Amino acid sequence: AGTLGAAAAQSGRYFGTAIASGKLGDSAYTTIANREFDMVTAENEMKIDATEPNRGQFNFTSGDRVYNWAVQNGKRVRGHTLAWHSQQPGWMQSLSGSSLRQAMIDHINGVMGHYKGKIYAWDVVNEAYADSGGGRRDSNLQRTGNDWIEVAFRTARAADPAAKLCYNDYNIDNWTWAKTQGVYNMVRDFKSRGVPIDCVGLQSHFNSNSPYNSNYRTTIQSFAALGVDVQITELDIQGGSATTYANVVNDCLAVPRCTGITVWGVRDSDSWLGANTTPLLFDSSGNKKAAYTAVLNALNGG
Ligand code: G3I
Repeated sequence: AGTLGAAAAQSGRYFGTAIASGKLGDSAYTTIANREFDMVTAENEMKIDATEPNRGQFNFTSGDRVYNWAVQNGKRVRGHTLAWHSQQPGWMQSLSGSSLRQAMIDHINGVMGHYKGKIYAWDVVNEAYADSGGGRRDSNLQRTGNDWIEVAFRTARAADPAAKLCYNDYNIDNWTWAKTQGVYNMVRDFKSRGVPIDCVGLQSHFNSNSPYNSNYRTTIQSFAALGVDVQITELDIQGGSATTYANVVNDCLAVPRCTGITVWGVRDSDSWLGANTTPLLFDSSGNKKAAYTAVLNALNGG
């Protein structure tokens, strides 16, 4: 197959990208995005600050712009993200205790209600684990009680039973890292107690401090063995190594429950990391990079 989406579809997988609503008027951007990808994540537009700028007043203008572009072009959508310590609107940052807990629940219901039946998978909870030590990250949400994550998932299941519910995080790619083990233990606990969780999102932002490691396949296999799908949700590789990109794709293809890959932007110039880090599959002029060819070949079985 000649595009990333079509090549991934040969094995029943998807290949997605993050889309920024502000770039939908850039035809060079939309031409590549529309041609190559069959799954879309809104880069910022479905986050808490964007969708509930004032408590109880929801705004889906930008989120719907991304959603409608995707669906009108035949793509599915991943929802990102409902409960997160970052990108909270000011009103939420100032809440604590039971009022914050209720605001989290109301937010999940409001956003998932708006998109009910329309989203392939939601990143229900994002980045709840600390960078080291294997425990929870301190945050206003964590201080509402350790059960906030399972409350978020139970709320999400009731709000939209059709959506897959994911836990999404970075630096949980390396199987030997304490953070990976912390999240793994949480998912195992949730599965054993019947807390509704369907998928784990490995963000997979690779750089010199958190490089790709060949135990990535073990990480994917280990999560999948718990009975959840694994999705690679925000892939970028600083420097753009074609070999590393191929390794990531081959590791996903090796695990049946690794169901899709999303790169975190279209061209290098679209990356949150800055164009000079060259982390994506297209250069800033929109040309296919060696990494693109490596990914396409891997998806095609070569
Ligand atoms: O929209 C405003 C604009 O009005 C203003 O002029 C400009 C000035 O800085 O800021 C714009 O907002 C920025 C927004 O991106 C849209 O470009 C924010 O400052 C900036 O913080 C925000 O960065 C986003 C970041 O999440 C925030 O946490 C990145 O685009 C986005 O790629 C990044 O994505 C995250 C995932 O959600 C979670 N995992 C990590 C990943 C990378 O950090």
